[in-house]
Amino acid sequence: MPPHDAPRINPSILAADFVNMQSELERIESADFVHVDVMDNHFVPNLTFGTQMVERIQATSPVPLDVHLMIDDPERWAPDYAELGAASVTFHLEAATEPVALARRLRAIGARAGVAVKPATDVANLLDVLDEFDQILVMTVEPGFGGQSFMPETMPKLSLLSTEARRRGSQVWLQVDGGISESTIGQAAAAGADTFVAGSAVFGSSDPDAAIAALRNQARKHTHAH
Ligand code: DX5
Ligand code: ZN
Repeated sequence: MPPHDAPRINPSILAADFVNMQSELERIESADFVHVDVMDNHFVPNLTFGTQMVERIQATSPVPLDVHLMIDDPERWAPDYAELGAASVTFHLEAATEPVALARRLRAIGARAGVAVKPATDVANLLDVLDEFDQILVMTVEPGFGGQSFMPETMPKLSLLSTEARRRGSQVWLQVDGGISESTIGQAAAAGADTFVAGSAVFGSSDPDAAIAALRNQARKHTHAH
């Protein structure tokens, strides 16, 4: 079992073969979590799957689930993902009405509670409530599709969150998602990320476990000892 200590590598099954999900999950046993992108074709212009599919992934995966909800009305749906056993459930700040109340509900069910922000969304309002969340996801592409280019202009937000988290002695995990590869992961690690989602960089490799190890090494090299 991976220990889930940083740097954590969470492969995104958006880049996997949906028809062979069980064997795809077995290719990433060295991952810390499996990142599950739920899209509703409203919050983002793409559609993936919902609770029925994620329930089967939960039953099949040797690795715990990190669910990323790119959906409207997370108040209605996010608790269902916690109830089905996902270790971590992240909803978007832009879509939530009462983000702190929703995070508390997710924690009460037993999941880690995460909040995500799109590249243009400010994080200033999160600084005072960091400890209400177990994870903050700074999107490094516009959510909706895999295989896009990493946006370095999102890095100052990560530095801000990281500095504030350290100042407060917070245990919150800082996650990045989008365009993470061996050539971009160092920048994100240097800015303070400790949890890395990678879709095409892992599933596009002929040896996903080797790709995970390479990403983890590269992130470790750029992580500052605080
Ligand atoms: C994008 C998703 C990502 C996506 C990342 O909206 O949230 O998780 O799978 O894919 P890559 O790593 O290929 O950019
Ligand atoms: Zn994602």
